[in-house]
Amino acid sequence: MPDTTTTASPQAAEKPAASRFYWGAATAAYQIEGSPLADGGARCIWEEFSHTPGNTHRGQTGAVACDHYNRWPGDIELMRELGLDAYRFSIRWPRVLPDGTGAVNARGLAFYDRLVDGLLEAGIEPFPTLYHWDLPAALQHRGGWANRDIAAWFAEYTQAVIDVLGDRVSHWMTLNEPWVTAHHGHLTGEHAPGIRNIYAACAAIHNQLRAHVAAARVIKRATPDAAVGLAFSNSAVAPATDSPDDIAAAEISHAWGNFPLWLDPLVNGNYPEVIAARLQPYLPDGYENDLADLRLAPDFAGINYYFGGLVKRDDSDWLGVSGVDEPGLPRTAMNWIIRPEGLHALLTRLHQDYRLPSVYITENGAAFEDRRTGATVDDPQRVAYLDSHTQAVLRAREDGVPIDGYFAWSLLDNYEWAYGYTKRFGIVYVDYETQERVIKQSGQWYSGLARDWRSQHA
Ligand code: FCB
Repeated sequence: MPDTTTTASPQAAEKPAASRFYWGAATAAYQIEGSPLADGGARCIWEEFSHTPGNTHRGQTGAVACDHYNRWPGDIELMRELGLDAYRFSIRWPRVLPDGTGAVNARGLAFYDRLVDGLLEAGIEPFPTLYHWDLPAALQHRGGWANRDIAAWFAEYTQAVIDVLGDRVSHWMTLNEPWVTAHHGHLTGEHAPGIRNIYAACAAIHNQLRAHVAAARVIKRATPDAAVGLAFSNSAVAPATDSPDDIAAAEISHAWGNFPLWLDPLVNGNYPEVIAARLQPYLPDGYENDLADLRLAPDFAGINYYFGGLVKRDDSDWLGVSGVDEPGLPRTAMNWIIRPEGLHALLTRLHQDYRLPSVYITENGAAFEDRRTGATVDDPQRVAYLDSHTQAVLRAREDGVPIDGYFAWSLLDNYEWAYGYTKRFGIVYVDYETQERVIKQSGQWYSGLARDWRSQHA
């Protein structure tokens, strides 16, 4: 059971509907910046992974991406034009500390310093994420997330960032989707660093928790009023049948792939009960000794959400679960099933189970086959997707979940990891040949949603 003594009381969490709500958009450094080595920066694991033949679509890399490293003033202008309240972006660790630890690269930090100033001047609240998958390659060569020392490395990096940005940033996220780092990066190998080893994956889970807590302490020490959270990957999992086996499988899948894997340790000081015995053989020796230290509830949960699916019991799987195909349902270009009601269900469950004082939807959006026709990009499917999902969010808020903001993924079409440039998620279209930006119909629609909200809640 959640221990409510370490978090806000349910009453405190039910905020009046008039509290500030941020309508924002999100991006990540490796997906948009380009110029990875500029101004003294160094390689990250995605450079090494994407340059290695066979890992990404046609060997595509983030070397240029949206050239945001050079075009950031224009991109802030775009956000201003869209009327965004907030911008979630990530900071590239090897720009700040090229070796991962040790010497700070002031020129790399200066980029984020300018970006934060530019956002604030435009009236846009910065929501930086410290780690969105671009680990310094130098640290991977020392074992990366599987090395216990990474909690101290991450705290050192956090300190370097806070020293420069701490006076102007009031919302921090430490890690983006730590499950994806552990699972795709260390178990299936489809993401950098491309490892397939269950012990490394479980070490990456445990060490990301330790790193989050170490970084949260650094931020709180320097700026006690700043809110610190992290962004979790989630999907809405439902049992394929109402048999107890399938219901139990859905619980396992939820605990493993969604927020419980992280919030049970951070709020309650243990791994989720339904999967603890399955993880235990693979977690690092002595992991139990860290659990008391991990108990530090975040100020907010960041919920990333894209799709939902059915699961059933499957004894051949290490967790005892497998997915069930659902032909004929509406899907995005990622082949992800569109399930807005799943987002509502996840948000209400999050609040029921953990009672955190604040929640943000830190990513939500969809890839479709966009075509540019002259000066516009009509993307009615994305408009429908964003409409149904923002409605689900606002319904959850009316139902008492303390939701303080929503970030569309993504501000720009960008580098979609192993899929390269083939999947467009932006509310702004990017012509990768010319780097021209065109606000899509969905961008106009989203801008109107934020504008209407502000006029109704002024
Ligand atoms: C999430 C990632 C983000 C983006 C979207 C589509 O898992 O956090 O970088 O790739 O998916």
